Amino acid sequence: MPIHTSPNRWVLETQHTAYAFGLNSAGLLTHHYWGARLPRLDDYPIPADPAGFASTDGFGHFIPEEFPGYAGTKYIDPCLKVTFADEVRDVVLRYVDFSVKNSPQPALSIRLKDVYYPLTVTLHYRPHPDYDLIERWVTLENLGSEPIHVERIFSAKWTLPPGDDYSLTHMVGRHVDEFNLWREPLTPGLKTIESRRLIPSHRAAPWFAIDRAASEDAGEVWFGTLAWSGNFRISAEVTEFASTRVSIGLNDWDFGWKLQPGEPLVTPAAISGYTQSGFGGASRQLQAYVRDEILPHGQVPHKILYNSWEATLFDVDEASQSALAEIAARMGIELFVMDDGWFHNRNWDNAGLGDWWPDKKKFPNGLGNLIEKVNSLGMDFGLWVEPEMVNPDSDLYRAHPEWVIHFPTRARTESRNQLILNMARTDVQDYILGVLDKLLTENKISFIKWDMNRAASEPGWPDAPGDQRELWVRYVWGVYRVWGELRQRHPDVIWQSCASGGGRADYGILRLADQVWISDNTEATARLHIQEGYSQYLPAITMEAWVTDWNEGFMPLEFRFHVSMCGALGVGGNLIKWTESERELAAECIRQYKEIRAVVQLGGQYRLLSAQKNAYSALQYVSQDQAEGVLFVFRVHTPEKFNIPQIHLRGLDPEALYSVEGCGEPRSGLAWLEVGLKVELKNLQSRVLRIKRVSPNL
Ligand code: GLA
Repeated sequence: MPIHTSPNRWVLETQHTAYAFGLNSAGLLTHHYWGARLPRLDDYPIPADPAGFASTDGFGHFIPEEFPGYAGTKYIDPCLKVTFADEVRDVVLRYVDFSVKNSPQPALSIRLKDVYYPLTVTLHYRPHPDYDLIERWVTLENLGSEPIHVERIFSAKWTLPPGDDYSLTHMVGRHVDEFNLWREPLTPGLKTIESRRLIPSHRAAPWFAIDRAASEDAGEVWFGTLAWSGNFRISAEVTEFASTRVSIGLNDWDFGWKLQPGEPLVTPAAISGYTQSGFGGASRQLQAYVRDEILPHGQVPHKILYNSWEATLFDVDEASQSALAEIAARMGIELFVMDDGWFHNRNWDNAGLGDWWPDKKKFPNGLGNLIEKVNSLGMDFGLWVEPEMVNPDSDLYRAHPEWVIHFPTRARTESRNQLILNMARTDVQDYILGVLDKLLTENKISFIKWDMNRAASEPGWPDAPGDQRELWVRYVWGVYRVWGELRQRHPDVIWQSCASGGGRADYGILRLADQVWISDNTEATARLHIQEGYSQYLPAITMEAWVTDWNEGFMPLEFRFHVSMCGALGVGGNLIKWTESERELAAECIRQYKEIRAVVQLGGQYRLLSAQKNAYSALQYVSQDQAEGVLFVFRVHTPEKFNIPQIHLRGLDPEALYSVEGCGEPRSGLAWLEVGLKVELKNLQSRVLRIKRVSPNL
């Protein structure tokens, strides 16, 4: 049983970790342990009962509360801030009771209530023992008769063992340059990572890792993410008394919520974990969890797709797509995806969004002929849509200008010539649901790339039923509702989440989409960086990666293939221009990928040499039963005479015998781990080496 209860202490245990909290003598719900699992329940410390320091810092400031409200003399970053109907802005929470539910998975709920006002806060905890993760979320309820104004509600505060000697790793980025890792010491004060753009955005990933001198392979790391596809906030705080804590949840920037009686507010889930196996261990825990517990089809490797975007841009029609499809099929591609440009009046990015029916000039007979053609070539058919958007030049906007996010007295700032439909509105949701459902019902579509290409501006919702600022949350709920309903009606469709590349890559969207288009940058060396960052919290099965023509003048096609083979392989180059020998090489790489695809997409991933730190890199995947593996090695550009350092394999059974393609006689797993191997490459060369267990014993 992963949940241990008593009247005043609770311990959550996973395979290797434990998380404990309880009531201190003042009755405050206090964190007291998060780290390695200990042999006996009594081994976990008891909740702290600190005294104050001076008249300037009362005792409340020192208690690592599980979920502090803004109240009294605590000046730490609170999780909850409200204004009651009488303007009182002090929320004093006290423990009421707890309950444990065993289905669908064991979860503990702790109920807190304001000592005076009719506000209850229920903290939910769900341990995921096999992944050493703990999931937390919160339900806020107004039991009174007047609305309560919520200004901040996070999903969790994670308290680290006492100390102020931690480092924070997070990711920063831009369009075509996502997921750059950044590690910095956490110093006293507040460090915030956030999104204010309506989607998580390219600028920051909803992920953090905190360590004390950990490496890729070893050392303590506390890490986490938020299952939310909108504005998020992660704040790491180091107090002046050496206490380190991380809050995570909905961003409270421009947030407001009128909590009506009888309408509970449930926050997104925060998922966190602890490991002693370094950053690599942390990633593998998260990756396995996403595959097994989050993705709709996490155990089924993806088909190799071709996407026509970079080849034809908006210039799509039956002839151009059929010509590409014929070549793609000959190369072994399994899914043909037509990108932007196919729908009513869509010839460039300045018109058409919103009118989701085939353009009469480009597809006079609808999509049926093309789909039949693609199917007759032995491939499935997929399509691009951007449902949340509208171009002012569209039938939809002309009919419903009031449907976009806007302030009536302000400009409607366009970005990529488009405005955002207010997905918080149920009429907008119903419209989108209707057109997409029709598209999927009338056509044999197996795959949808769902795009979202701009960030919010002038975030108004003039006829909002509650606080206009609820838009930031209700919009995301609206997207979830439409997408979720479509998923239910068309359960076999595979969805891809794209937001100008990797702007919406989170555990919320991945309950709906099976994969992510992680960057519009398809240049292979940039991609090595981006893919490494992405892998910190998301598995290879979700990482769609196309081979394109970027840098084709000097970047070998084989290198480009190998980079994309590290994820869910796709092709996006202009196949019409590829020579016959390039197409043959592509067919050979695709054949090879089919052999390793299950290991790459379902196996454990080990980052052996970092692409973000070096001009060379090595990445390994190992099947769950340790019988098979694959090693990728890349050398980008380093001065000549340089040799790639010894590569130490990981994840093998030390006591089994393995062969590594091209590396001599079989050796023990332990030898490959400890002695390693050498791979010599010239600049812009790459290798894919199969690893095979030749005997389970030495
Ligand atoms: C975005 C996507 C691209 C492509 C275009 C189409 O930029 O990230 O992959 O689909 O839109 O307009």
